[in-house]
Amino acid sequence: MKFPSTDDLLISTYPKSGTTWISEIVDMIYNDGNEEKCKRDAIFNRVPFMEMSCPGFVSGTEQLATVPSPRLVKTHLPVQLLPVSFWEQDCKMIYFARNAKDVAVSYYHFYQMAKMHPDPGTWDEFLGTFMAGKVAYGSWYDHVKGWWEKKKAYQILYMFYEDMKKDPKREIEKVLQFLGKERKEEMVNKILHHTSFQEMKKNPTANYEMMPTWAMDHSVSPFMRKGKRFTGKANKITAGTVFYSSY
Ligand code: PPS
Repeated sequence: MKFPSTDDLLISTYPKSGTTWISEIVDMIYNDGNEEKCKRDAIFNRVPFMEMSCPGFVSGTEQLATVPSPRLVKTHLPVQLLPVSFWEQDCKMIYFARNAKDVAVSYYHFYQMAKMHPDPGTWDEFLGTFMAGKVAYGSWYDHVKGWWEKKKAYQILYMFYEDMKKDPKREIEKVLQFLGKERKEEMVNKILHHTSFQEMKKNPTANYEMMPTWAMDHSVSPFMRKGKRFTGKANKITAGTVFYSSY
């Protein structure tokens, strides 16, 4: 099976930016708002993680080779590392961005619970490493900027976690329009309900509890932790912004 195929959809994010959230939303759209169909398997099987390669797991590319198109594909790759075949096939892509502070906090907890990561050290140490871009997938700044630039020339819907949090209905409608899908009120309402933080947190097919505990230990930190947007002083994080460590 040819991969990627023109009708595959790429979901691209910097880690901890709401990948699972937008993935669940898109899978609901692909299944016409049918919750039961979306509970057919864990999110990491419904939307395979392309570059994932970890002992004890089938790699992302092996997994994708068994899925017929149109596929949903997850990646955290910085834009310059995306295989050129995605640009050649002119695949549609959704980029989902989240502010750097919440990403850093979420990533710090994830580093502790997801055992494929090295020990992050203290919060202050991790924050320094994050700001230096020396974490998995590199610099947040370069990532969000690189994908932003690329959207000028390709079919990329660039979205923000904070917008989804503020007005999920409006944002889901943007996704429907981008994918050329019909907007049906009942379907939108089902998606809103099924993909709310509270629903996803208790849904084993969305909250990563179907991962073996040797890979993700939810007793250290749940994958679905707080799901909040930062409302403190530093709501616009740029390279020069001071980070607050009061989380
Ligand atoms: S990963 O491992 O990179 O794929 O993680 P990712 O899915 O990108 O990010 C996990 C964070 O997204 C939050 N999340 C949500 N927030 C609001 N609403 C919904 N429905 C939702 N689903 C996932 C999740 O809680 C993680 O953020 P934190 O701040 O750690 O809670």
